[in-house]
Amino acid sequence: MSGKRVLSGMQPSGYLHVGNLVGALQNWVRLQDKYECFYVVVDWHALTTQYSDPSRLQDYIKDMLVNWLAAGIEPEKSTIFIQSHVPEHAELHLLLSMIVPLGWLERVPAYKEKQQEVKDKDLRTYGFLGYPVLQASDILMYKADLVPVGGDQMAHLEISREICRRFNHFYGNVFPEPEELLTEFPKVPGVDGRKMSKSYDNCIYLSDSPAEVEQKVKTMVTDPQRVKRTDPGDPDLSPVFQLHRIFSTKEEQAEVAEGCRTAGIGCIDCKKVLIKNLFSILEPIWDRRKDLLEKPGLIDDIINEGTKKAKKVAGSTMNMVRESIGLK
Ligand code: TRP
Repeated sequence: MSGKRVLSGMQPSGYLHVGNLVGALQNWVRLQDKYECFYVVVDWHALTTQYSDPSRLQDYIKDMLVNWLAAGIEPEKSTIFIQSHVPEHAELHLLLSMIVPLGWLERVPAYKEKQQEVKDKDLRTYGFLGYPVLQASDILMYKADLVPVGGDQMAHLEISREICRRFNHFYGNVFPEPEELLTEFPKVPGVDGRKMSKSYDNCIYLSDSPAEVEQKVKTMVTDPQRVKRTDPGDPDLSPVFQLHRIFSTKEEQAEVAEGCRTAGIGCIDCKKVLIKNLFSILEPIWDRRKDLLEKPGLIDDIINEGTKKAKKVAGSTMNMVRESIGLK
C-alpha cells in the first residue's frame, strides 16, 4: 500500500456493460490493493447531459453500485459514494468556477464534439460547459494524487491540473496536482462491431441473463462473405473475432481464426467458445449480483458509510479552501 490516494468516477447515464467492466472496473479493483481509493458515482455529471429526463437516474445509480460491488470493489478497502450526497462538491465547483477562464472550457475537445454528436439534446448550457470544473472539484476535494482514466479523459485531467495550479497561485498551496493513471485498455466492440455503447444498442450488459448473453452472441453477424458453412472466412472481418481478442486466450484465438480461414469450424462453433469465455467472466458477477439484490438494505448501508467517510475529507478540504480564500 503506497500512501497515494486515487479517485475516479463514473457517470450513471446507462446500465453498465462489459465494456465498462474491462475498460475501467477491473482496473479499479486492482488499484484497491495498492492505494487508498475513492470511487464516486457522479450523478450530477450525468445530469449535465440528461437533465431533461432524469427518470431513470436512480435505476442507473443502483445498477452501477450493484455492479461495482459484484465486480469486486470492496467497501472495506475503498470509499464508495454518490456525488450528490456530498454537496461540498457543489460549493467547490462554484468557487473554482470563479477562477476558470471561459477559453479553457470552450477549448476542451469533448465540449464541441459532444454537442455535435448528441443531436437530440441542447448542450449549450452553463452546466455542460462547466463539466470539467465539476470533475476538477471531485478530484481536488479528495486531494487525489492519481486519477485512473482512459485516453478520452486526458483533456479533462489537464484542465483539472490547470485549475489546481491557478487556485494554488491565487490562494496558497492547498491542492496537490493530480496525475493521470493512464492505462490503455482495449476498446471493447459491441455485438455489431462498433464501439460498445448504449447509444448504439449493441451492449452486453452486466445485468443481462445468461440466456440474453447467449442470444446476443448467437445473433451476431460474422464475416459477411462467409455465407455457407463450407465457405472459408476472414476472422478480421468478423465482430465475433474482435470480441475473442478481448475475452479468449491466445490459443483459442489462434484456433478459431485458423478454423474460420479454412472453414474447419462453423460460426456457431466459434461463437460457442466466446459464449463460454463471457460466461466465465460474468458468472461470478451474476452470483454476487444475486446475493446483493437479495439484501437491498446492504447497498444503502455501504453508501451511508462511504458518504460519511467522503464527507469527512470533503469537510476538512472545504475548511481549508474557505480559509485560504478568506471566507469565514
Ligand atoms: N468524466 C468522467 C467520465 O466520463 C467521469 C468523472 C467525473 C470522473 N468526475 C471524475 C473521472 C473524477 C475521474 C475523476 O468518464
